[in-house]
Amino acid sequence: MRVGLVGWRGMVGSVLMSRMVDESDFGLFDARFFSTSNAGGQLPAGLAVLPRVEPRLYDASDLASLQECDVVLTCQGSDYTKQVYEPLRKAGWSGYWIDAAKTLRMNDDAIIVLDPVNQPVIDQALNKGIKNFVGGNCTVSCMLMGVGALFKAGLVEFIAATTYQAASGGGAQHMRELLNQMGSLNASVRQLLDDPASAILEIDRQVLQTQKGLSAEQTQHFLVPLAGNLIPWIDADRGDGTSLEEWKGGAETNKILGRGPGFNQPAIPIDSICVRIGAMRCHSQSLTIKLNKNVPLKDIEQMIAEDNPWVRLVPNTKEDSIHHLTPIQVTGSLNIAVGRLRKLALGDQYLGAFTIGDQLLWGAAEPLRRMLRILLKA
Ligand code: HSE
Repeated sequence: MRVGLVGWRGMVGSVLMSRMVDESDFGLFDARFFSTSNAGGQLPAGLAVLPRVEPRLYDASDLASLQECDVVLTCQGSDYTKQVYEPLRKAGWSGYWIDAAKTLRMNDDAIIVLDPVNQPVIDQALNKGIKNFVGGNCTVSCMLMGVGALFKAGLVEFIAATTYQAASGGGAQHMRELLNQMGSLNASVRQLLDDPASAILEIDRQVLQTQKGLSAEQTQHFLVPLAGNLIPWIDADRGDGTSLEEWKGGAETNKILGRGPGFNQPAIPIDSICVRIGAMRCHSQSLTIKLNKNVPLKDIEQMIAEDNPWVRLVPNTKEDSIHHLTPIQVTGSLNIAVGRLRKLALGDQYLGAFTIGDQLLWGAAEPLRRMLRILLKA
C-alpha cells in the first residue's frame, strides 16, 4: 500500500508524524510525502531515515502523483481539500481519503472516525465501500472519548455542554498571540508587581487599559484580547444564535454515533456554548447529561472508567480535581480526564461531568493514524 501524506509540517501534521513514529507506523506501507511549497525538494532528514519513505517531496496539487497513492492522508486544511479532493475523484481515483479538515465531514459518503467509539460504524462503512474517513471536530472527539460509554449503553437523553477551548484550537499563530498578549500585560504592570505595597486595584486598572489598548496586530487572530479574558464565541456565526463550533457538537456527535440523518436512529439533542479561554492546549468541557433512567453513580463511574484504555477517572474531590483535571496535566498525553462526576440537584437522572482531552491528539491526529492502521488490516 502506498500512502500519500499531505500537510505533515503544520501543527496537527507534526503531532501526527510524531505519533506515527512513536507507534512504528512507518514501515507498514510505502510513504510518499507531498508539499504545497517545496515540491522536488528533499524530505527532512528526520523523516528520511524512516523505513519505506520516498526521499523526494511531491507536488501536493499534482493529481497524477496523488493518484498513484492507495491512501491520501491530509492535515493540510480545508482549502486544500476543497481544491484537490473533487478533481482527484473526477480523475478516476478510487483510493482512501483520510482527512483532518471539516470539508467532507458531513457528506453522506464520508465517515467521521473515532474508532474506540464508533468502530462498528467504520466497519459498516468499509463493507459498503465508503472511501472517505474524516477526523471529527476536536471538542466532539475529546468529549466522546470521555463519556462515550454512556452513549454506548443507550443512557443519554440529552447533553448540555459548556466548552473551555484552548488557544491551540485556533492554530499555531493563535498560541503565539496569546503568549505575546500575556507578555504585554505583565510588562505593563511589572514595576507595580515588584512592589508588594502597590495597590491591586491600580494594577487591575492598568492591565485593563493595556488589554483595551492592544493593537489590531496584537489581536489579529482572536480579534479581541484573550489574555486575562475569555471569548464566548468560536468559529463562524451561523446566524441563528449558534456558532459553527456549537452546531458541530450536535451534528458531528450524532454522526459519529451513527444517529440522525442518514442513519436509522434518531439524533440525541446535544447543545453547547463554546468558549475560548487562555489555556495553551487541551479542550475542556463541563457537561450536564440527562440520563434516560436513574443509574447509580458508582455504576456510571465504572462504565466510564472501563470504556477505553485512555480514560482517566478523576475522583470528585478538590485535591484530585485541581491536580489531575487540568489542561496542564493532560497536555501531550492521550489520556482523557473525566471528573467532577456527580448527580445534580436537578434530579436523579441528571449527571454533571467535566472532561479534558488534548485536542491535537485524540482531537485531531490520533483518530487519523488509527484509521490508517484499520485500512492496513482491512
Ligand atoms: N474548532 C476547534 C477550535 C479546533 O477552534 O478550538 C478544531 O476542531
